[in-house]
Amino acid sequence: MTNRCSKAERACARPKVSHLGTCFAIQLGCWLLLSGCGGDAAGTPPESDSAPEAGVAQAPPQASASRGKSPQGEGGGRQEPDGAEPSSQDDDPQDAQENSEPEGPSAGSEPDGTRNTGNDLPACADESPDLSPKDLACTGLYASVADKQLADGVQTFKPAVELWSDGADKSRFVVLPEGKQIDTSNPNDWRFPVGTKLFKEFAWKGQRVETRMFWKVTQARWLKAAYHWSEDESQATRFPGGEVEVAGDTYYIPSAKECDQCHKGRADRALGFEAVLLSLPGAEGLTLTDLSSAGLLSNDMGATNRTVGDDGTGLGAEALTWLHVNCGVSCHNHQSSADAYLTDMFLRLQFEDTDGSSTAEADAITSTVGIEAVTRRWKDRTRIVPGSPDRSLLYQLANERDARDPDDQMPPIASRVVDAEGMKLLRAWISELRPR
Ligand code: HEC
Repeated sequence: MTNRCSKAERACARPKVSHLGTCFAIQLGCWLLLSGCGGDAAGTPPESDSAPEAGVAQAPPQASASRGKSPQGEGGGRQEPDGAEPSSQDDDPQDAQENSEPEGPSAGSEPDGTRNTGNDLPACADESPDLSPKDLACTGLYASVADKQLADGVQTFKPAVELWSDGADKSRFVVLPEGKQIDTSNPNDWRFPVGTKLFKEFAWKGQRVETRMFWKVTQARWLKAAYHWSEDESQATRFPGGEVEVAGDTYYIPSAKECDQCHKGRADRALGFEAVLLSLPGAEGLTLTDLSSAGLLSNDMGATNRTVGDDGTGLGAEALTWLHVNCGVSCHNHQSSADAYLTDMFLRLQFEDTDGSSTAEADAITSTVGIEAVTRRWKDRTRIVPGSPDRSLLYQLANERDARDPDDQMPPIASRVVDAEGMKLLRAWISELRPR
């Protein structure tokens, strides 16, 4: 794919105009511009050269040293080096088909062959095993959606620190297939057994709005979906992404592509169900210790009482875990498919960083404090100016919303409200940092 094509694709992936007619004109323009680029502009993913699901959750190749870096943004944006294929995870057939499915539930067996036995069962048959079920009741999360009764085998968990989601209340659930272990041979990159399901449910203004799901159906493929709840919370159906109304206000549900913009930061998708966030104080429900004592981890991680040590500021533990969950687990990490990999700014904590020893040399410090931004538009700006939050680009972007260009705010998607508490913490921490 040529440089022109990848640039045009990036632009066309996010037309910045919402007016229908203009949007159509942009799409048409994109189609003309991109014809001959390998994928078409109307959002249909390019043909994958292997089996349909093959590229979806495979570990992306680690970038080799010779793979020239041409970072284009401090945070988001698709930052493949020129000539490199974008992450194959974008080629998910679900992305293309989700919107074109005929509406209405149908009847039968679930993708893993089991039947949903809930008493308020919509007909789950006829659903394609290649797609997420249309109705949340067919996913196996609830035995009864109407009564909000969880199905057998569903366990709850809460990461020690949560991603800021504009004040939404979130609950998380996991289903691990019986008799299988999580491959934890790399403590920082867990591999889940086929059949694993992860859910996150969002309530906003006291009302259930959406439930998100990742379901591992083959070694190489995760189904993903967001289910939008009816106003009376009696059912939730698969939703392609976009704005919905909640108590007279608008709420945004991410699209399948947006899920991956964050979740491709881990080869096997889970961002909060991981060693660091399940083992620090604050983790609830199923923790690393529980997983370990139930024999669910392939490699024992000796998992009690992990802590993040201080970095000399007295605020290091809090600040580094905030950066970890809000920026590091998804985009700013060493995984070559992660959206901000090419910026060389790494904000994810490693499991080894949580043994209580000093964090003065953690990646989140060595790649930020006194380090200049690589993005062209932020040239001459320093990511973190020790002692000065107001001159620190990292603080500026985290404290910005409604930016004209999504990359001028962090995160670039899925947030419209600044995390005021988080900003207080970052300010205090940066004020205490000293030059390295
Ligand atoms: C802005 C980045 C972002 C977007 C967009 C996003 N997620 Fe997540 N998601 C996260 C992070 C970070 C966590 C872990 C922290 C937490 O749960 O608070 C998470 C957690 C989850 C979990 C719980 C399991 C886990 O990974 O720990 C599920 C399930 C999930 N997301 C599904 C989805 C789906 C489906 C979509 C798209 C409809 C989506 N997410 C969109 C960042 C994102």
